[in-house]
Amino acid sequence: MAAQLKTPSSSTFLAACRREPVAHTPVWVMRQAGRYLPEYRELRAKVDFASLTRRPDLAAEVTMQPLRRYALDAAILFSDIMTPLQGMGVGIEFAPGPIVREPIRSMQQIEALPQLNPERDVPYVMESVRLVRAAMPRNAPLIGFAGGPFTLLCYLVCGKPSKEFAAARASLYAAPEATELLLQKLADAMAAYLRAQAEAGAQALMMFESWAGLLAPAEYRRFALPAVARTMQQLRSLDLPLIYYANQGGALLEDIATLDVDVVGLDWRTPLDIARRTLGPDKAVQGNLDPAALFAPPEELKRQVQRVLREAGPTGHIFNLGHGIWPETDPDAVARLVDAVHEGRS
Ligand code: CP3
Repeated sequence: MAAQLKTPSSSTFLAACRREPVAHTPVWVMRQAGRYLPEYRELRAKVDFASLTRRPDLAAEVTMQPLRRYALDAAILFSDIMTPLQGMGVGIEFAPGPIVREPIRSMQQIEALPQLNPERDVPYVMESVRLVRAAMPRNAPLIGFAGGPFTLLCYLVCGKPSKEFAAARASLYAAPEATELLLQKLADAMAAYLRAQAEAGAQALMMFESWAGLLAPAEYRRFALPAVARTMQQLRSLDLPLIYYANQGGALLEDIATLDVDVVGLDWRTPLDIARRTLGPDKAVQGNLDPAALFAPPEELKRQVQRVLREAGPTGHIFNLGHGIWPETDPDAVARLVDAVHEGRS
């Protein structure tokens, strides 16, 4: 019997991922290292974004900036979802969103895409992980991440950020086999990439499916979901929490529930109690305050935090925003957010 008991998790974040009881709900913020922080903007005034991601000393410094300022319960590596694709030879610039020099429009281009060898192609990412682990404030756990295959495909096919990602979505219907091949190649590359981050010291792994909400459930089920499942299957043996975030995924939750992941991240459009009913008791949830709520007066922000805590329930919840923090956010509002989450439900 005793042999079956797992070692207690050393942090509230890791405990909540495993749905263990916690003294307080852990909190971190998507895009917590970034432009709303004066110390980030100061560094960015001197170094361009791509160079930041390739300099382990600077990437580690930016990763830890929000951890020094706030009592956050986890850090997320400073990098970008497009960084591993640069390592695979795809020409990408940031302005500030990713611009792909030669968008992928042919089977020939898909076939030519090489497999990713993370330690050879993007060694600076793993070096950043190692530097953060060695210097992390309060020993907070580090989350490694990658983009979801469908989200990466959106940028690769369209070549730049967009509202509709028309060419990417059209490709699902116009060239389904080629699209599936591209998704499989991306799924395998991201599995190798996330595994390398874990081996370098990342303590949880998260996949960002930022554009899941563009798809109807049938297309999600045929294209995006099998690709995510393919990545996650290759990571399951690592025995560390796997997190899947699907932006605007409210209509996709029945399909997301079939994924073998520990935590599902949700945007603010789906209340957490309703999401839990579909996801079942075996998954923790992460989210889901509207980033706009950080512009509320302090008392109202507190009420909003308490509503999210109430909807989530006491276990298996990691507090977060429903999507990335806006660059215009007052840094003091983040301090109030973290305090309100740690104070808990009243
Ligand atoms: O704290 C963190 O989360 C920092 C690490 C991080 C960045 N990008 C840094 C970044 C993470 C986890 C990402 C993920 C990412 N990148 C996603 C998934 C999450 C989401 O928001 O949906 C996506 C879709 C991208 C693609 C991307 N990169 C966009 C659309 C942009 C421009 C717009 C924006 O929101 O910033 C980027 C550039 C980028 N990535 C910046 C940062 C801090 C801004 C670059 C700058 O400093 O000028």
